[in-house]
Amino acid sequence: MRFSSSGSEREVIKTSCSTLPGPCLYLLWEMEKQVCADFSERTKEGEMMFAVTGATGHIGGKVAARIASLGLPQRLIVRDPSRAPKLPGADICQVSSYGDPTAMGKALSGVQTMFLVSAREIMGVIKESKDHNTSMPYYDRLHQHICAVSAAAAVGVRHVIYLSFLNAAPDATFVLAREHFRTEEFVRSTGVAFTFLRQGLYMDNVPQHIMSDDVIRAPAGQGRVSWITRDDIADCVVAVMTGHGHDGQIYDLTGPEALSMEETAERLSAVIGRKISYEALTPHEARVNRNMSRMIDHEILRQSIAGTGITEPELEGWVSHYLQIATGEAGPVADSVPRLTGHPAQSLAEYLEKHPETYAHFLKES
Ligand SMILES: NC(=O)c1ccc[n+]([C@@H]2O[C@H](COP(=O)([O-])OP(=O)(O)OC[C@H]3O[C@@H](n4cnc5c(N)ncnc54)[C@H](OP(=O)(O)O)[C@@H]3O)[C@@H](O)[C@H]2O)c1
Repeated sequence: MRFSSSGSEREVIKTSCSTLPGPCLYLLWEMEKQVCADFSERTKEGEMMFAVTGATGHIGGKVAARIASLGLPQRLIVRDPSRAPKLPGADICQVSSYGDPTAMGKALSGVQTMFLVSAREIMGVIKESKDHNTSMPYYDRLHQHICAVSAAAAVGVRHVIYLSFLNAAPDATFVLAREHFRTEEFVRSTGVAFTFLRQGLYMDNVPQHIMSDDVIRAPAGQGRVSWITRDDIADCVVAVMTGHGHDGQIYDLTGPEALSMEETAERLSAVIGRKISYEALTPHEARVNRNMSRMIDHEILRQSIAGTGITEPELEGWVSHYLQIATGEAGPVADSVPRLTGHPAQSLAEYLEKHPETYAHFLKES
């Protein structure tokens, strides 16, 4: 189903939208007022069209490259077309953000399957403001997701594949996993077919947890993490986008093993060539001292742009990101990667051996 100027199609969409939540109905009304280039006219009749959001980022970029290498048509929905990958068979469509449902609706017209990358969290938005030398905008991440999903539902996207988070639940320790759960609930409420890909913590970011004194300091207790590579996540996304039988499914995307932070530090020591250690902070120490990797940078950044330190919700987001390790919520190991892709998930040792660039700055210091 496509949104176009044809009256009969609008009627079909209106009928199918009658069961949708309020934001979708509002969106439909908004879209009917639009007179603009409609991407659906560029979609050949009967052709499967994929939409990939976040294509200027890591996961979306990897997904887009894989879809292109399969020779499939896709639309890359991006905020900055100049940073979008140039790929054969890919249209590029600009939106100011997921939070603009009218632009999202236009970008999604004629699309059957949308891969929705979760929006940047607040600390990323702060960094973005600094990079662009703009003031900090009002930002509600859940609202961003709701707008994107409403747009998809209103223009007849048939399948929404949402990049969620491991243990998405209303009472998750990691506060952002609660937001992912609420997004999932909203997707369900639209009646559009869905698949939720609940990703674990990125293996690619593991070296970033080391501080300049070779210590990983975090309130992660003795918990375990099933680190997963972005490449394995992208392979799973593409398997779901292009495969069958995934409607209504929830997949936990994890690496092949659950490592403690000590074991994680051992794997890093082996490739860096000197001792990297782990020091468990209490939640109180983490909150008060904030002497965790990247937390210090974020705090400086925030001061420079907003003139104030980290707010309580931001602090909670950061600390709870580690507390989910302590509670065991970041540790489940699932078999989704081999099941969906046919290849094993990469281990941390394999990943570090293949990607010395991720810890090259530590090698130079040895
Ligand atoms: N599992 C983990 O350990 C972990 C760690 C960090 C983040 N995450 C989550 O996973 C997501 C994907 O990871 P990634 O590595 O691909 O992130 P990334 O490289 O930062 O890419 C995020 C992509 O989403 C786009 N985007 C972000 N917010 C948006 C919005 N409000 N409206 C429209 N587009 C938006 C960005 O566009 P621009 O290029 O224009 O900014 C970018 O293309 C992140 O966005 C975050 O939610 C997971």
